Amino acid sequence: MDKLHTALTIIEEQLSISAGLMHDVAARFQAAMAAGLTGQPSSLKMLPSFVGSPTGREQGKVVAVDFGGTNVRVLLVELNGAGRFNIVDRRSFPLKDKYGSYDYTSSSATGPELFDFIASKIAEIVSPGDIYPLGHTFSFPCRQYGVNEAVLISWTKEIKTAGVEGHNVGRLLQDALERKGIGHVKSQAVINDTTGTLLAAAYIDATTDIAAICGTGHNSCYLELCHPLTSRPMVVNMESGNFDGVPQTKYDVLLDQSSEKPDAQKLEKMASGQYLGEVVRLIVRELVTEADMAKDSDRVHIPYSLLTEDLSVIIADDSPELAAVAKIATDRWGLTELSISALTAIKTVAILVATRSARLVAATWAGTLMHIDPGLARRHTIAVDGSLYEKMPGYADNLSKAMAEIFGDRACQVVIRLSKDGSGVGAAIAAATVYNLK
Ligand code: BGC
Repeated sequence: MDKLHTALTIIEEQLSISAGLMHDVAARFQAAMAAGLTGQPSSLKMLPSFVGSPTGREQGKVVAVDFGGTNVRVLLVELNGAGRFNIVDRRSFPLKDKYGSYDYTSSSATGPELFDFIASKIAEIVSPGDIYPLGHTFSFPCRQYGVNEAVLISWTKEIKTAGVEGHNVGRLLQDALERKGIGHVKSQAVINDTTGTLLAAAYIDATTDIAAICGTGHNSCYLELCHPLTSRPMVVNMESGNFDGVPQTKYDVLLDQSSEKPDAQKLEKMASGQYLGEVVRLIVRELVTEADMAKDSDRVHIPYSLLTEDLSVIIADDSPELAAVAKIATDRWGLTELSISALTAIKTVAILVATRSARLVAATWAGTLMHIDPGLARRHTIAVDGSLYEKMPGYADNLSKAMAEIFGDRACQVVIRLSKDGSGVGAAIAAATVYNLK
């Protein structure tokens, strides 16, 4: 066996998640849920949302803000009741200008600057005079003290804006709306994107009781039927990206230790789009420097030089000469004259890393299902949004296959389905519920 082949065999062993390991991870996840819910030490924050499941009858014209990463969307949503809604207007804008003229995600920008910018975009979709309830999806770990009171615990996804951690995000946005002269837009609810996805999906299908984002970030939430705080149903934002009951490889440790927040978000760093490309790069770099896979280049040493989109292209390349893989290796890393075994190795690593992500995520959902319905006696729908689930070749299939491996025949009780752009609509539903109750 040559050096490359030997190295690849070892990597394959390290990245494979067997059915037995999925069962272990599921059991650890279930235990972490129970601990987090009752306030014991746990890597799962189990954050209360103060939102229950929707009735499907929520109605009205609502502004929704969907802030989940470097792109923010503002929507004007008309909820018509009976599970129907209409998106009347929408704008999407980056918080970081690609030509460098502004960057509201950097540590030199402040919270008020960031929220003033968002408020200016909301001003473009509302008319003067009318009162608009506003629902805000804010996809970062927040300690909720009420449905409209969410204090950012810490930024994730490498965002660094100053003066937001430790502050009430609903207040920061409302202050910015007032400063913009659109105080008739009234923040009613701040929710996590997983909660938004769950609400939007449950608005049309009441069997939805788990929701997740498999995109740039990763997280899941579920409907706790009898929440210890209220003894009533409540969506719980697990912040499962922070789950630490997962076996890290040396590449994961390397990535984690050189990230913005070492030791935090261990599962997210192994499972989400923000990081998968970097895991692949770290492995490929080792294959280049230690297994003579190719002539070394400066660019293969540059962190985050492989994007998630590249990963999808690599995995989808079924051409005999792996032309797309070769192009990416050259464009991103300056690796040239790669042999077919080198190109195959890159593709294999990409598949292994993406498959590991799906199997770890499936194991956490299995743990969640064991918590809410140990015998799988009723039907459950898991609503998922995010680019990995929607676009990465094989990702959705790997999730379903993993569930079937874990639950056998009983897996037919579990449906996993795409809930596209649900988080914005979910924020509108949460805001309408609160506004109509007042
Ligand atoms: C955040 C979560 C969010 C997830 C998906 C994670 O980085 O901590 O709050 O739900 O990304 O956007």
